[in-house]
Amino acid sequence: MISIGGVDLVAGLYRRYAADLVEVVERQRAVTTDARCRPGLDDLEAEITYLLLRQLRPEHVVEIGTSAGRTTSWLLSALRDNGSGRLVSFRRAPRPSNVPDELAADRWTVYTGDVRARIEALPETTDYLLLDAAHTARFGRWYVRTVFPRLASGTPVGVHEVYRGRSAWVRREGGVVLDWLAERDVPHFTVARRRVPQIVAALTDLRRELGVGDARGPGTNPMIWFEMP
Ligand SMILES: C[S@@+](CC[C@H](N)C(=O)[O-])C[C@H]1O[C@@H](n2cnc3c(N)ncnc32)[C@H](O)[C@@H]1O
Repeated sequence: MISIGGVDLVAGLYRRYAADLVEVVERQRAVTTDARCRPGLDDLEAEITYLLLRQLRPEHVVEIGTSAGRTTSWLLSALRDNGSGRLVSFRRAPRPSNVPDELAADRWTVYTGDVRARIEALPETTDYLLLDAAHTARFGRWYVRTVFPRLASGTPVGVHEVYRGRSAWVRREGGVVLDWLAERDVPHFTVARRRVPQIVAALTDLRRELGVGDARGPGTNPMIWFEMP
């Protein structure tokens, strides 16, 4: 297990997987520009999620909250490029998915309905969890009490929308997670522009040097990553 935090680790992953990443960024552009599919993740957080999956090679990835599928496509791209791994996604209501067939292949299962009533659909083991569903304190309290205890120590977790930049967001789902982490002394990593501008500047320079294409999304990058204690 590697530690998912740290700019040096992330910079190393950018260098290691640069050629593959350049291709995925280009393909994702087609997914993103489809009118049905609003950008789900910003540039750095999407790319870092891809890079972590490449490095960690998880067998079972869980995504709680999929919509038109841009984030889903990033996750599936990493599993395709790894040549292994499956993704289980949850969404509350059916809607047209923009996930390309070649990515979904036989590696994607999507469940529709309230995940709180489908907990048995989670795989027996989860090797990477991404949360981007309801951004309410109530939903945050549900998953820290119900989903987190099911995860093995060391499981990497990404939570979107934590550092959106308005304090109200932090008091909601993000606040619940940040409190949960603080109570357990668990560090987290972020590339949120307002929190760590120097890290964002360094990674932006590196992306340019590696030819990783133009920035996409508003550049807020509100995700956090941590490992289950
Ligand atoms: C912000 S969108 C996720 C966007 C996603 N990152 C993407 O790129 O497609 C949030 C999604 O979470 C789903 N969601 C919200 N609450 C949920 C719940 N209780 N159970 C299952 N899905 C839920 C909604 O259906 C919605 O599609």
